[in-house]
Amino acid sequence: MAGSREHWGTRLGVILAVAGSAVGLGNFLRFPGQAAANGGGMFMIPYFCALLLLGIPICWAEWTMGKAGSRLGFHSCPAILGHLGGHRAWRYVGAFGLLMPTVVYLYYVVVESWCLAYAWSYLRGTIDLGSNPAEYGQRSAAVFTSFSGDDADGLVFRGGVHVSVYLWLATIAANFALIYRGISKGIEKFCNIAMPIMLLCALCVLVRVLTLPAFDDGSETRTVLAGLGFMWNPKPVQEGASTWSVLGNPKVWLAAAGQIFFTLSVGFGVIVTYASYLKPKQDIVLSATTASATNQFFEVCLGGLITIPAAFLFLGIAGASKGTFGLAFNTLPIVFQHMPAGRLFGFLWFFMLFLAAITSSLSLLQPVIAFLEEALNIGRRASVTILAVVTASGNLFVIYFSRNLAALDTLDFWMAQVGILIFGALEVLLLAWVFGARRGHQVASVGAELRPPRWMFTVLMRFVTPALLLVVLVAWCSFNVRGYIDAVRQGGVAAYGVVVILGLLAFFLVLVRIGDRRWGAVASSAQARSEAGTETRR
Ligand code: ALA
Repeated sequence: MAGSREHWGTRLGVILAVAGSAVGLGNFLRFPGQAAANGGGMFMIPYFCALLLLGIPICWAEWTMGKAGSRLGFHSCPAILGHLGGHRAWRYVGAFGLLMPTVVYLYYVVVESWCLAYAWSYLRGTIDLGSNPAEYGQRSAAVFTSFSGDDADGLVFRGGVHVSVYLWLATIAANFALIYRGISKGIEKFCNIAMPIMLLCALCVLVRVLTLPAFDDGSETRTVLAGLGFMWNPKPVQEGASTWSVLGNPKVWLAAAGQIFFTLSVGFGVIVTYASYLKPKQDIVLSATTASATNQFFEVCLGGLITIPAAFLFLGIAGASKGTFGLAFNTLPIVFQHMPAGRLFGFLWFFMLFLAAITSSLSLLQPVIAFLEEALNIGRRASVTILAVVTASGNLFVIYFSRNLAALDTLDFWMAQVGILIFGALEVLLLAWVFGARRGHQVASVGAELRPPRWMFTVLMRFVTPALLLVVLVAWCSFNVRGYIDAVRQGGVAAYGVVVILGLLAFFLVLVRIGDRRWGAVASSAQARSEAGTETRR
């Protein structure tokens, strides 16, 4: 089967590739905003509960599924889910493991291109907010609009093609050039170089932020220590409530669960594909845990100490309380404008964000590349071409409907907030109930350098994780879905977004139908071989 002989080159390579998939915009932009808005230090209690009870079990489940699939040379979610489920209906369920990364990629790569634009502009010294601090906010917003086109729909702006189109073209060219080179020569090699560079850039910015002197804006003097306090001191979510009341607020638990899913890249189908390129006897438990720990280090120790404290120092509570994009693209340029050698640190920061984003977006593309090669029995060049055409059309949808980032917002909600919870639940149910928790444990134990405790599979994955996921899903939908459904009913971008998602789903289902027979034949001949082997041993 095309592509089935590919493997990761080294153990460190696979860990860095999975960590690269996990470390992304979610670590540096989404996490600080979520933590500051949801109880500061108190947020870490639901956050670590979600990590241990949802994130790690689903992560291990995905690695186990990928490893089980690799025995038959399968790398795509439909093939692997069909094999584990023992029924072809699971292959169609596996189509969601293609839909999720593809749709998230459609807007993720656009945000990635903004990071590239900022990095390039800082390098050239063209982001200058002037000398009047009172005008910084307005000028910073204008810079963001010039890159994102968030003030109007369309691809044409002031008579010419909008700059965001060129940025996007450069970014997708980089993504597809790397993905074309393959697992070991493309993704692994790139992550091996990018991850240490990201660490170095983030540490430079961290040291700079933590050593900044106190800042006086005319009305008050603020220190970095106060900024760290703003981020990390336990605080109630509502005015006047007690600090502990945070733990009784379901929205805080939901925010923590959503953040864990997004940051670990679980529920996307990405890890299943990455783990399927392991060699048959390779360890998964230690590798999975190391990759997750690396992600948590980037998120809590680097993401959690840089953006909000720096924003608080120069701009106070108002500047540090902006949403994800506001903080990243409006507030931080103001911070760099105030900071000595801000141009250098602005470049390091946005270049690091670009690298973090590209190591993640590559992981969003690979599941579909593997799928196209398996389902259609085609080579790398054809699979990359098909995916490039399909995703480019979707990217144009996101770029066209850029006013208030409406298309991005609707795709993000249905896939990265609702879809990943549903697909994560299906994956863990499949492994623990259909394939069998004990069999799953056996697969994970082959070649294990860190022996997985059996209760992780037989208790957590069977009962605790699915039950918690159900609660999270129902609560999440009851709080958030109504507004989005109303928006879809009213038509416009929210409805077009759903049409794009359903169109892609239909596309994948048709291709699963084509691959169905091929996967069935491979699975049957593997079963026949294993039965013959059993007979011979008897
Ligand atoms: N895990 C990736 C991120 O955090 C998607 O950005």
